[in-house]
Amino acid sequence: MEKKTIFSGMRPTGRLQLGNLLGALDNWIKLQDKYRCLFCVVDWHALTTAYEDPALLKENTYEMVIDWLAAGLDPEESIIFRQSDVKEHAELHLLLSMFTPLSWLERVPTYKDQLQQLKDKNLSTYGFLGYPLLMAADILLYRAEAVPVGEDQIPHIEITREIARRFNHLYQKPYFPEPETILNKVKVLPGIDGRKMSKSYGNTISMSDRPDEVRKKVRQMITDPGRVRKNDPGNPSVCTAFTFHGVFNAEEVASVEQVCRRGEIGCVECKKQLAERLVSYLEPIYERRQALQKEKNYIREILADGAKRASALAAENMAEIRELMNLGQL
Ligand code: AMP
Ligand code: TRP
Repeated sequence: MEKKTIFSGMRPTGRLQLGNLLGALDNWIKLQDKYRCLFCVVDWHALTTAYEDPALLKENTYEMVIDWLAAGLDPEESIIFRQSDVKEHAELHLLLSMFTPLSWLERVPTYKDQLQQLKDKNLSTYGFLGYPLLMAADILLYRAEAVPVGEDQIPHIEITREIARRFNHLYQKPYFPEPETILNKVKVLPGIDGRKMSKSYGNTISMSDRPDEVRKKVRQMITDPGRVRKNDPGNPSVCTAFTFHGVFNAEEVASVEQVCRRGEIGCVECKKQLAERLVSYLEPIYERRQALQKEKNYIREILADGAKRASALAAENMAEIRELMNLGQL
C-alpha cells in the first residue's frame, strides 16, 4: 500500500526555538519513517513579512536546515526542500486565488493578530493577505493528507480544507484530500515569561543557546507568584518551570510536583535541576549542529536533491490540476 503523504513547513526567519522543536519538529521526526514526508523551507512565506529586508533569507535557510538535521530529520527518508525552488507552489497559489473569496482570507484570526503585532511593518499587501492561501497551495500541491504543526496553525489548515472542498466541488472531482492537523503532545510551549514561546515576544530559548544562556533564561522563568518563601507550598499548575519539567524531565515530574506542593524544594533549586536537564537535552543537538555547520555543500546538495524529488511529484499533480481547470495541452 502507498504511504500517506505528509507536508509541513517553517519560515526561515532565524535560529529555531524550543517551541518550534517541541510543537512541530519533534513530531516530524517521529512521523518520517511511517509516511511519505515533505518538509519545506517556506522562504516565500518569510518574504511576506520580510520583503523590505531579504538579506538573511539564504543564510537563514541554511541555518534552519542545519537545525532540522541536528534535531534528527533524515534527508534519506524525508524530502527536504526550499519552496522557491519548486515553482508549482506559485502556480497553484495563483489558480486557487481565482476562486478564494476575500472574506475567507480576511477572517483568518492570524491575519488580524499579525497585523496588530507587526505594526512597524506595512503589511497591507496582497502577499500578506494571501499567506494562508500560499500555505494551502503548499499542502494541496502534494495532495497531503496530514500536516504536523503547532496549535497556532490550526486556522490555516481549516482554510486549506475549505479550499480543497471548493476546488473539488467546482471541478467536479474529489481530487484534493482534506488534510488533517497532527498536533504533538506539546501543543503550545510557553516562553520564559509564560506567554507562548515566540521570537516576537523575546521570550525564547533557542535550540542553539549555550549552557550558560540556558541557565540564565531558566533562572528568569516565571514561577508561582503566590510563593514568597522557599518553603511556602507551591502551585505547579501556574508555574512555567513546572511545564518545562513536564516536557523535558518527564521521569521526575511527578516527584517535582510533590515536593513543590509540600514546599520541600525552593524555586531556585527546582530551576537548577531543570536547567541541567535542558542543557543535557540540547548538548547532542548542539554537537551535531557544529559538525553540520562546516558542511554547507552537503546542505546545498540535500536541498537540490529535495527540490528534484518534490518537483517530480509537483509536476505530476500540477498537470492533473491544469487539466481539471481546462488549462492543459491544446
Ligand atoms: P513559526 O516559526 O511561527 O513559523 O513556527 C513553525 C512551527 O513551530 C509551526 O508549526 C508552529 O505551530 C510551531 N510553533 C512555534 N512556536 C510554538 C510554540 N511556542 N509552541 C508550539 N509550537 C510552536
Ligand atoms: N505558516 C506556517 C508557520 O508559520 C509555515 C507554513 C507554510 C506551513 N506553509 C506550510 C506549515 C504548509 C505547514 C504546511 O509555521
